[in-house]
Amino acid sequence: MQRTEKLKRVYIRTWGCQMNFHDSERMLGVLQKEGFVSVDDPKEADLVVFNTCSVREKAEQKFMSELGRLRHLKRSRPDVKIVVAGCVAQQKGEAIIERMPHVDCVLGPQNIGRIGETLVQSRAVLTEDNPDIAETDLPAIRKEGVSAWVNIMYGCNNFCSYCIVPYTRGRERSRPPESILVEIKELVSKGYKEVTLLGQNVNSYRGGISFPELLRLVNQIEGLERIRFVTSHPKDLGDDLIEAIATLDKVCEHIHLPLQSGSDRILGLMNRRYTYNDYLRKVEKLRSAVPGIAITTDIIAGFPTESEEDHRATINALKEIEFDGIFAFKFSPRPMTKAAEMEGQLPEELKGERLSEILQLQDEITEKKNRTLEGRVVEVLVEGPSETDKSKLTGRTRTNKIVNFYGDPINNIGRLLKVRITKGLRHSLEAIPI
Ligand code: SAH
Ligand code: SF4
Ligand code: F3S
Repeated sequence: MQRTEKLKRVYIRTWGCQMNFHDSERMLGVLQKEGFVSVDDPKEADLVVFNTCSVREKAEQKFMSELGRLRHLKRSRPDVKIVVAGCVAQQKGEAIIERMPHVDCVLGPQNIGRIGETLVQSRAVLTEDNPDIAETDLPAIRKEGVSAWVNIMYGCNNFCSYCIVPYTRGRERSRPPESILVEIKELVSKGYKEVTLLGQNVNSYRGGISFPELLRLVNQIEGLERIRFVTSHPKDLGDDLIEAIATLDKVCEHIHLPLQSGSDRILGLMNRRYTYNDYLRKVEKLRSAVPGIAITTDIIAGFPTESEEDHRATINALKEIEFDGIFAFKFSPRPMTKAAEMEGQLPEELKGERLSEILQLQDEITEKKNRTLEGRVVEVLVEGPSETDKSKLTGRTRTNKIVNFYGDPINNIGRLLKVRITKGLRHSLEAIPI
């Protein structure tokens, strides 16, 4: 870029999972090379990118209504480029431009490296399969901070019967360990203390080495303090990973292990390939090998044909396991998926009732568990000022719990501090530094 050239401005809005947020960071990285800076207001932008999620219908509807609003923007400034990226882009493709003629281009998640092409083309639909995705490293512009996301794999081969992700993100591909390590070392040299390794199913990482072997290599990186990873599929969680969590000092004592349902019949219909008992046994192993480990999960309420008895099995699972936290959702039928076509779809109202019961029960469990931490001394990685109270600092424990406490912001951000928990709340902990 020549110095005399005016900087171009991009506004990126993101929905969905951590992977999608990281994709936005990489689109920004690619665009910066094209001379773009990012802005916080679409009205100021020359390029507007909506990076979308289609995992549930609600997420998709939200984005569609926001996209509709951009019509005015395009009318007042026809030169502004509007690009729809992400999982909805992949799933709907051309249809987006047909329904919303103010959209210029559609860019699937496997093709974000080609965002430059959308600048010179109009009505391009870039949704081809990209088998080289794991071998091509794109630059990323991350928010300044202490923690960074790092891709280790792309796509998913599991085809859980409810899930659209294998159709939007394509086949599973692992990134070579060398490029993962180079990227993390670079992040550490820039001051990041923590990395979160990203993949739809990190346990099936196959970059010439296994996932636990990759963890061992990352653990050796000097200056790195903490390693996290999402998501783990219970069917592929082996003893070697449990051992890695137990023995590698930087690997945090937290695992997100989506259960989805406590009923074996529903798990079968979901194509999850484990039983509740298999899951429970893995939880027991994790807890005995890694004392104090936090386990979080995802639950789907009201899968097709789910009976009251199946729902009770989920409720019992929540009571028996006592997760540290859950994400729970009403089943949402998604295009292309098997579950959307199944007989026995439940009414929204019933799904809603079951979801409320699940969330209410879990709130009580989370609060109870957090209260047992009162009086304990824990290590927090200080992230910055607290969102709810600017006079406080916020950080996370190794078990991924949010802790708020009074402290000097200048000297503490990015540091590991010992604090004593004074109060366990539903969604966070209060503490005092010691
Ligand atoms: N690969 C990850 C994340 C998948 S999407 C994993 O396997 O866990 C994140 C969560 O969204 C899933 O765990 C599931 O609980 C939920 N989800 C996916 N599809 C859904 C659907 N059609 N309806 C409701 N929830 C869904
Ligand atoms: Fe979806 Fe299952 Fe793949 Fe997770 S493992 S992304 S839920 S198909
Ligand atoms: Fe993520 Fe949503 Fe796609 S959860 S993988 S952005 S469908």
